[in-house]
Amino acid sequence: MSSEGYRVAVVGATGQVGTLMLELLRERGFPAREVVPFASERSVGRELEGGLVVRGLSEESIQGFDVALFSAGGSTSGEWAPRFVEAGAVVVDNSSRWRMQQDVPLVVSEVNAQALDAHSGIIANPNCSTMQMVVALKPLYDAAGIERLVISTYQAVSGTGKAAVDELLDQSHALLHEREIQPPAAYAHQIAFNALPHAGGFAPGDDHTDEERKLMNETRKILGDQSIAISATCVRVPVLTGHSEAVNVQTREDLSPERARELLREAPGVSVLDEPEAAVYPMAVDAAGQDGVFVGRIRRDPGHERALDMWIVADNLRKGAATNAVQLAELLHERGLLGARSMPSPA
Ligand SMILES: NC(=O)c1ccc[n+]([C@@H]2O[C@H](COP(=O)([O-])OP(=O)(O)OC[C@H]3O[C@@H](n4cnc5c(N)ncnc54)[C@H](OP(=O)(O)O)[C@@H]3O)[C@@H](O)[C@H]2O)c1
Repeated sequence: MSSEGYRVAVVGATGQVGTLMLELLRERGFPAREVVPFASERSVGRELEGGLVVRGLSEESIQGFDVALFSAGGSTSGEWAPRFVEAGAVVVDNSSRWRMQQDVPLVVSEVNAQALDAHSGIIANPNCSTMQMVVALKPLYDAAGIERLVISTYQAVSGTGKAAVDELLDQSHALLHEREIQPPAAYAHQIAFNALPHAGGFAPGDDHTDEERKLMNETRKILGDQSIAISATCVRVPVLTGHSEAVNVQTREDLSPERARELLREAPGVSVLDEPEAAVYPMAVDAAGQDGVFVGRIRRDPGHERALDMWIVADNLRKGAATNAVQLAELLHERGLLGARSMPSPA
């Protein structure tokens, strides 16, 4: 870091996650001397809130950065993240492109920050559904181990991108005004007033979606335990922002609901909202706009003596993406992992 701070690139700066990353870098006072927004050629020259002007990605424009926060999809990350690294930056990537690569740490700030130390240029931010779940599971895992997870997600449309948000709003508006809806584009079927057991895509020959596979593979990688058995069903619901998850946690040692509540109350990044008789439990509409992970409905699974059921909710664009990316940049700074590789800025 030069005396005035780091030079930071935000790639995908015009998108939902990118916009929030710019906001969070400012709000949280990240020590930046310059923040440069990048997006596709469509947006080059566009002035963003705060007066920053969008640039295009080129060999010249990517030189001289200390850190680059990416949220522009897997193919852009595949092409440009290694180039940023070669030019001296550390990349924190929101896409799924690098997450399962062995030499790429997959990091959640509250769960496995130590994994950052072994980075070789690219650090992956987990999938949004995995992110919020492992923040809540980590204290239970440390206390009692985890043998098996059975997960059902209720995922918001903003997880698919801006176009899906517009599609839900357009369809809802049309249906409320008794008009025909346009043929669906973001999803295989109408999303308004519906629930789709199809979040993500089906790869040929796989009866699970890639979103379900991400939950399984990423959870095991972050918790560093390949022995956890995981069953997942990911469902897209007509919610704008905030993913909800019903999670059945079978522990290795006995863990009472009371002890789980205590552990979660002490856990970083977690708030327990668990007074069901007073209708107090986490909900997507309350979590939207918040940076934390909210847990409630903690109870014994009557079907298994070592299993608990719980309900986990978070803002998929914040803790599920932008907040964790900025927290990782902060941790890289605190751990002295930024700047050492940096090249001098072009004159
Ligand atoms: N939404 C979530 O809950 C969530 C959670 C975790 C991770 N993610 C990941 O974060 C990424 C972005 O998600 P989002 O919801 O923010 O999507 P989005 O709102 O659709 O934004 C996409 C961004 O990528 C830019 N972009 C597209 N093609 C590009 C290219 N060829 N070169 C440079 N920039 C390009 C877009 O620029 P233009 O405006 O110029 O098109 C825009 O800034 C995805 O990889 C997604 O998987 C999203």
